[in-house]
Amino acid sequence: MNVVTTIAQLREIVLHAKKQQQTIGLVPTMGYLHEGHLTLATNARQENDLVVMSIFVNPTQFGPNEDFESYPRDLARDKKLAESVGVDVIFAPSVEEMYPQDGGIRVRAGRQAKLLCGASRPGHFDGVLQVVAKLFNLVQPDRAYFGQKDAQQVAIIQTMVRDYNFPIELRIVPIVREEDGLAKSSRNVYLTPIDRSQAPAIQQALQLAKRELQETEDVEKALALATKLIEYNTDGKIDYLSILAYPDLTEVTAETDQILLAVAVYIGKTRLIDNEIFSLK
Ligand code: PAJ
Repeated sequence: MNVVTTIAQLREIVLHAKKQQQTIGLVPTMGYLHEGHLTLATNARQENDLVVMSIFVNPTQFGPNEDFESYPRDLARDKKLAESVGVDVIFAPSVEEMYPQDGGIRVRAGRQAKLLCGASRPGHFDGVLQVVAKLFNLVQPDRAYFGQKDAQQVAIIQTMVRDYNFPIELRIVPIVREEDGLAKSSRNVYLTPIDRSQAPAIQQALQLAKRELQETEDVEKALALATKLIEYNTDGKIDYLSILAYPDLTEVTAETDQILLAVAVYIGKTRLIDNEIFSLK
């Protein structure tokens, strides 16, 4: 496995692969890898000649009071894990390498970024699109792998790929969970033992709401049941709990095909997100 930190080194590898007519799979991450990330890489390994994983804690997607500085980092451990699932190249640039100057030009997320995580994290998705667009241009992948864990991120990146004609196939991988249902996340390391014992209530609440929706199609009742379950079983504070049409993130109507049931909860100091995507038809 090759670990590169500069754009020049990465370009050389990409150019070489393109000359050999190799297909390239890109797995963008912020590192501190867990099984969720590794599942994306495993899928990429199965479908491409060359697998590139980026590991970059992108400052432009963090708000001023968010956890950019304290975000967990361990490149030595990440290298071993990435190699174990067959990643060929890790691209781990410095902030200066990725953003040497700022010409002020931005890709801006649209309506889909106004709600859910976008409402409590203004500018977050603009930062995500900025780094993802750069990675797409640098790696020129045939396929890029993203997790359904961040369903809103997926929906917004899909829109960018469509609107800006990136010749890239997006591959979406289902959420990888702990045995008790908690969605795997690099931020789970922030949870205290008490937080950790309460966190599975988030997934239980989604399951309860999903069942209610499938049985009664009563959105309000489904949301009320899930809210109660979280309030009774955790000391957490719900940031949002929403039911929307996916991937448009508009209100559910009789024509809605895919439903997104999404939640963000502060458990202690940690903001955890989870979702279910399903059809009522
Ligand atoms: P990060 O949070 O490191 O996640 C990298 C990728 O792993 C994302 O596509 C995310 O959805 C996926 N992922 C995380 N946890 C998962 C889980 N439990 N199951 C399945 N997939 C999971 O998302 C980002 O980084 C950044 O915003 C990034 C796209 C890299 C841009 O900076």
